[in-house]
Amino acid sequence: MTFENDLKSIIRTIPDYPKPGIMFRDITTLLGDARAFRRAVDELVQPFAGQKIDSVAGMEARGFILGGAVAHQLSAGFIPIRKKGKLPHTTVSVAYSLEYGLDEMEMHQDAVKPGEKVLLIDDLIATGGTATGAVKLLRQMEAVVVAACFVIDLPELGGADKIRALDVPARALVTFE
Ligand code: PRP
Ligand code: ADE
Repeated sequence: MTFENDLKSIIRTIPDYPKPGIMFRDITTLLGDARAFRRAVDELVQPFAGQKIDSVAGMEARGFILGGAVAHQLSAGFIPIRKKGKLPHTTVSVAYSLEYGLDEMEMHQDAVKPGEKVLLIDDLIATGGTATGAVKLLRQMEAVVVAACFVIDLPELGGADKIRALDVPARALVTFE
């Protein structure tokens, strides 16, 4: 079995969650499998091993789990990008849309310094609304977004192409059509 099929088969699909018509790709089954979790993190890290990455930015909530592990492996810091109202210090914020709604995300204003190299990590890219918002926040603070990496891409929703159109390389380990 290929690496992609291996990882793909361990991701659970829940139809009609959280809304009718959505096929929810649930990574908790991957996270709960020690071997699959390690392989996914190793694969996310691999292209950047040996590069100087200052920080990994992870999007609440699932991006925290993967982003934290990737940051540790790269000896980088971690920047939490959170839903509105969760961060205690001065924030910058951006509104964004996703496959099943609208929301606002925030980052601490002092989380990154101009010119710092940041790797964006999340579990999944669908419409790209979340990742686009994160790129905007980081660029507002003059960070250099080196790449955006995901375990899952839903290519039909066009998110990865939107990120590439922002001149940020986008990469995912598996795709679901
Ligand atoms: C999911 C997923 C991504 C986002 C992708 O998070 O973890 O962050 O949707 O969708 P998009 O490409 O259409 O923006 P969600 O907002 O459901 O939050 P959660 O991780 O807190 O469940
Ligand atoms: N976030 C946006 N769309 C999603 C999906 N289909 N499955 C899991 N997370 C998502």
